[in-house]
Amino acid sequence: MFSFRLPLPLVKTPAPSFHSRNYHYCPRPAVPKRGSAAAPPAVAVRGDGTSVAGEAPEPLPAELAAELMPKHVAVIMDGNGRWAKVRGLAASAGHEAGVESLRRMVRLCGSWGIKVLTVFAFSTDNWVRPKVEVDFLMRLFERTINSEIEAFKREGIRISVIGDSSKLPESLKTMIASAEEDTKQNSRLQLIVAVSYSGKYDVVQACKSVARKVKDGLLHLDDINENIIEQELETNCTEFPYPDLLIRTSGELRVSNFLLWQLAYTELYFNRELWPDFGKDEFADALISFQQRQRRYGGRHS
Ligand code: FPP
Repeated sequence: MFSFRLPLPLVKTPAPSFHSRNYHYCPRPAVPKRGSAAAPPAVAVRGDGTSVAGEAPEPLPAELAAELMPKHVAVIMDGNGRWAKVRGLAASAGHEAGVESLRRMVRLCGSWGIKVLTVFAFSTDNWVRPKVEVDFLMRLFERTINSEIEAFKREGIRISVIGDSSKLPESLKTMIASAEEDTKQNSRLQLIVAVSYSGKYDVVQACKSVARKVKDGLLHLDDINENIIEQELETNCTEFPYPDLLIRTSGELRVSNFLLWQLAYTELYFNRELWPDFGKDEFADALISFQQRQRRYGGRHS
């Protein structure tokens, strides 16, 4: 699927010791030795034998149950800057390597039957970063969408972009609109990219929209409830607006103004790896942890 080649070596360098452990909110039972299930899940292979990535499908690791897969995984892709810094490179090199990691993740989600992948690519709070980095990221988003769009169309991936688009460069806005239009019928995997997004921004824009409807007489004050708010949030672009699992890389233990409303009952998973180093084994570990949890939504476990 992913066509362009990175100019950077993507071989994992020996990880500093602080990268070697994962955080978990739940005690983690022993994980069986990693291996592959005898048969990959049906979703992994299309009729023509190619995977969502146009490469050999990734079999589901033996430790994972296809029927317990999260439908929606959200990711805070953190640590690109540190990844670059330890290599004496500019932050831009870390973001380039981060794109490669995202490609891997998209391929794995498509292979393993996950329906929605939401990634935090740029926060409303990131606009204060050095202009050179912001400009680089905007160009990188454009370049990446441009290079992937044909593969998305071919592989059944729908792309949706959420966030405050008013500050984005016109060329990026145009590219997003056309990519969304070109892939809107795809249903294999929905990739939601949060750009110039924050959870607080989303709640505020939803409140404005509700208030406008009340003012225009389209909605009565007493009719406002959680469903009405949900319909106005930007995640109304997906059938599964509530992530089952949130992964944050790089050892930071916070949600940093990501999907605040939508994360109400999301399972959280924190990992020490820097985002460019987050690969198949790390993703499988996150999913194993998810599959071992009990979700009670405030009730009692029966
Ligand atoms: C956080 O790392 C990462 C970002 C602000 C950018 C993430 C963007 C990508 C991986 C590109 C994705 C591309 C598309 C098209 C969706 P950081 O720079 O805050 O890392 P640090 O905390 O180590 O400095």
